[in-house]
Amino acid sequence: MILGVGIDMVKIEKMQKAIEKHGQSFLDRVFDKEELVNIAQGKMYYQRLAARFAAKEAVIKAVSKKYPLDLTDILILNRANGAPYVKFKKRVNADIFLSITHIEDYAAATAVAQKKNNKIDEDASDIRAYHARKSEPSVPFKKIQRLNP
Ligand SMILES: CC(C)(COP(=O)(O)OP(=O)(O)OC[C@H]1O[C@@H](n2cnc3c(N)ncnc32)[C@H](O)[C@@H]1OP(=O)(O)O)[C@@H](O)C(=O)NCCC(=O)NCCS
Repeated sequence: MILGVGIDMVKIEKMQKAIEKHGQSFLDRVFDKEELVNIAQGKMYYQRLAARFAAKEAVIKAVSKKYPLDLTDILILNRANGAPYVKFKKRVNADIFLSITHIEDYAAATAVAQKKNNKIDEDASDIRAYHARKSEPSVPFKKIQRLNP
């Protein structure tokens, strides 16, 4: 079952100014050490920070109805192939599907939250319905031509 979807966009300049003004204290209010180590490994430092900020906000939007979360409860990390994923510090009974993008001036992210242990039955009934429809006799092309002269 889908719990929710979230989207967020961050201006890189805003992120950069916040870090230049507040330094480490800002970084620690938003990010975990594990994230900062990961971000420091790539190029486009401010873009990657901003993208993770956007990702956290997107996750909060996606699960907000169910779980009150702070930015630091959500870690945005990368798999070996570069794909981003979410690690929660709190117990959250949801899987998150996340996508991130950044260009020079902006970063954005979308997140979809799906309840864990999703009942397979719901999916199975959808699949059964699809196959049932597929096995229905299709409308002969001649009939379509008659209806659409
Ligand atoms: C992964 C890919 C889609 C990223 O797209 P991009 O336009 O270069 O960059 P974006 O800013 O939109 O996205 C970057 C984010 O994509 C995410 N990403 C990277 N690899 C990913 C993957 N395998 N799956 C899902 N997301 C991925 C990351 O979160 C990354 O941001 P981060 O490094 O800060 O975590 C792209 O590099 C790619 O592999 N494209 C395949 C097609 C191709 O090779 N094109 C080049 C020839 S035209």
